[in-house]
Amino acid sequence: MTVMEAIRHRFSVRKFKDFEIEEEKLERVLEGARLAPSARNLQEWRFVVVQDPHMRRALSEAANGQAFVAEAPAVIVACAITTEHVMSCGLHCFPLDVSIAMAYMTLVAVEEELGTCWIGAFNAERVKDLLGIPDEVIVVGLLPIGYPDAEPPRKKRLSLDEIVMRERWQA
Ligand SMILES: Cc1cc2nc3c(=O)[nH]c(=O)nc-3n(C[C@H](O)[C@H](O)[C@H](O)COP(=O)(O)O)c2cc1C
Repeated sequence: MTVMEAIRHRFSVRKFKDFEIEEEKLERVLEGARLAPSARNLQEWRFVVVQDPHMRRALSEAANGQAFVAEAPAVIVACAITTEHVMSCGLHCFPLDVSIAMAYMTLVAVEEELGTCWIGAFNAERVKDLLGIPDEVIVVGLLPIGYPDAEPPRKKRLSLDEIVMRERWQA
C-alpha cells in the first residue's frame, strides 16, 4: 500500500468488530509514532495503550460519552511530557509533535487493515485521573483502534483550488 492509498482509505471509524488486535499489528502502529518527526527531535510523546474493558468504558465516559471509544479493542492515549518548548514562530511544539505521531499511527493502522478515530472531545482531567497520568503531562488525544465494522463514507473535502494559493496570499 502506498502512502497516498493509506491517506485515501483512512476514515474515522466509529464502529468496530469484536476482535482483538494482534500484538504485532499494534506494535507496528506504535512504531509509526516512534519514527515520526518532532521539533528538535524532542520526542516528548508518550502513549498509554488501554485494552482493559472496564477502563475503556471509563475512557468513553470521559470522552463525553462517545460509546464507540469503549467498543474499540484498544485505545491509545497520546500524551506530551513537556509543554515548555516554543518555536520561534510562536507555536508550542507539543501539540504539533504529538499530533504528527498520532497522524502517522492512523495511516499505519490503515495498512494493517485497522481503523481509528481521533478523539479530541474528552475531559482531560478525568482521563488523567483514570490512568494515573501525572499533573505535568498533557493528554493530547485519544485514538480508539480496531477492525472497522463500517464502510468508508465519501470524503467531504474542499478542492485544491479552494485551499491552495500560489506565490502569495490571495484574498
Ligand atoms: C483533532 C481532531 C479531533 C477530533 N475529535 C473527534 C471526536 O471527539 N469524536 C469523533 O467522533 N470524531 C472526532 N474527530 C474526527 C473528525 O470528525 C473527522 O476526522 C472529520 O470529520 C473528517 O472525517 P474522516 O476522518 O472520516 O475523513 C476528530 C478529528 C480531529 C483531527
